[in-house]
Amino acid sequence: MPTPTKSHFSKENIVLIGFMGSGKSTVGKLLASELNYTFLDSDAWIESKLNMSVKEIFAARSESYFRGLEKMFIDAHSNDHSLVIATGGGMPCFNDTKPLGVNIYLDTSFEVIKERLRSDASRPLFKNEAIALELFKKRDSIYRKAKFIVDGNLEPLVVKDCILKLLSSYKLP
Ligand code: S3P
Repeated sequence: MPTPTKSHFSKENIVLIGFMGSGKSTVGKLLASELNYTFLDSDAWIESKLNMSVKEIFAARSESYFRGLEKMFIDAHSNDHSLVIATGGGMPCFNDTKPLGVNIYLDTSFEVIKERLRSDASRPLFKNEAIALELFKKRDSIYRKAKFIVDGNLEPLVVKDCILKLLSSYKLP
């Protein structure tokens, strides 16, 4: 069998899902640059449409309004290709992210996530550790429905390489 090369990748979007702080944006940027895909962050896209931060949207409108904007994001990009998408942590819990492309779960422990988000106050749903832990436990089974699951506790460059390896065996002729 020939060694898989980049030409074997379909141009299907790569969709990173997982809890806040699981590394979706960091790993997504690395992947996009290696594959020569465009990186897209759903939170950043929503913020630029409304000219408001996610935190402001939650406070001035509501979480359910924000989930509607995430649905708009999915509809706007489901027919695109060659994108690496970092989704907001709740996106697959409120809307089906499969139409966006191949879903990959960055499976990261709560301990690692806590450490990564220690001095970050930008996330409205990570203000209280006990509540965030409950959310984390509730969401895990939803994230596990992804096509692929990778260990998000590893260094971003290692996670990126794991994903490339998984993708090299995906949809080969
Ligand atoms: C959320 C995660 C955030 C952002 C919003 C809600 C969630 O994105 O979409 O604060 O419900 O988990 P990140 O996963 O990029 O932090």
